[in-house]
Amino acid sequence: MLVEGKKISFSYELGGSSYALRDVDINIARGEFVAILGCNGSGKSTLVKHLNALLQLQHGELRVAQIDLRNEEEIWRLRRLCGMVFQNPDNQFVSAVVEEEIAFGLENYEVPRDEIPARVRSALAMVEMDGYEKRAPHTLSGGQKQRVALAGVLALEPEIIIFDEATAMLDPGGRQEVVKIMHKLHRAGKTIIAITHYVEETVGADKIILMHKGRVLSCGTPQAILTDLDLMREAEMIPPLPVRLYHDLKQAGIALNNCPLTDEELVEAICQFRLKR
Ligand SMILES: Nc1ncnc2c1ncn2[C@@H]1O[C@H](COP(=O)(O)OP(=O)(O)OP(=O)(O)O)[C@@H](O)[C@H]1O
Ligand SMILES: [Mg+2]
Repeated sequence: MLVEGKKISFSYELGGSSYALRDVDINIARGEFVAILGCNGSGKSTLVKHLNALLQLQHGELRVAQIDLRNEEEIWRLRRLCGMVFQNPDNQFVSAVVEEEIAFGLENYEVPRDEIPARVRSALAMVEMDGYEKRAPHTLSGGQKQRVALAGVLALEPEIIIFDEATAMLDPGGRQEVVKIMHKLHRAGKTIIAITHYVEETVGADKIILMHKGRVLSCGTPQAILTDLDLMREAEMIPPLPVRLYHDLKQAGIALNNCPLTDEELVEAICQFRLKR
């Protein structure tokens, strides 16, 4: 396992009695695409901030790429292995020019100077932002900014990339672009951890970790999690539209073959139903 956590509990108050995480177990294999789904305050950000030691482990055990999170000497190595993209790209920039922004991170990690230009170019190409090297980050659209922030992370060649609601501030087009890049990186062998409120974005994941009130409610395939109405209700989440339609149609006496997760699957299921009659 690339990420192995057992009984992780965390409280923001020292010695406090309210827990942001409670007895959380987490297992992620190398190359997996994992979505973490849950309503506001369910503990998603608190959990992933443990993975690159932005928050210090209080209770339980956690290893990321064999690095024990209790070992503080390894934290820099860990941060490089485990890159993170946040919700608001504006808070992530320190430079006035795109290429300097990406080079800055590399200099921080003491990447040899002669390697930097090639790394910057290849990171920008990966997020389809080649040609924007000389632009000022503040002149870019939200989606473009988010892709530059991601390029900054990719330039460090991390093994794990965590997206903490990286699409939350983008319009549907910008969101799709970022989700497309997540899947491209996954196909290229990266381990992806995507936190989101948008159930639609979890459909293509290998597995979903469903959180509620600091606990893991359930963990399984999108098909197992998203079509379970009781589980979704317990998590205070609304299932994807095709799932809701499937159940509404069933109540109205129209039983489709299987529960669709995407619009395309819904169309397919309706066509099959029509053919059957
Ligand atoms: N810096 C902080 N100080 C104190 N309490 C915090 C802090 N950050 C989060 N919390 C609390 O910890 C709990 C979990 O918060 P967390 O941010 O991990 O949830 P989340 O699932 O990421 O929510 P969201 O979807 O709103 O981002 C919440 O009850 C929250 O109020
Ligand atoms: Mg959060």
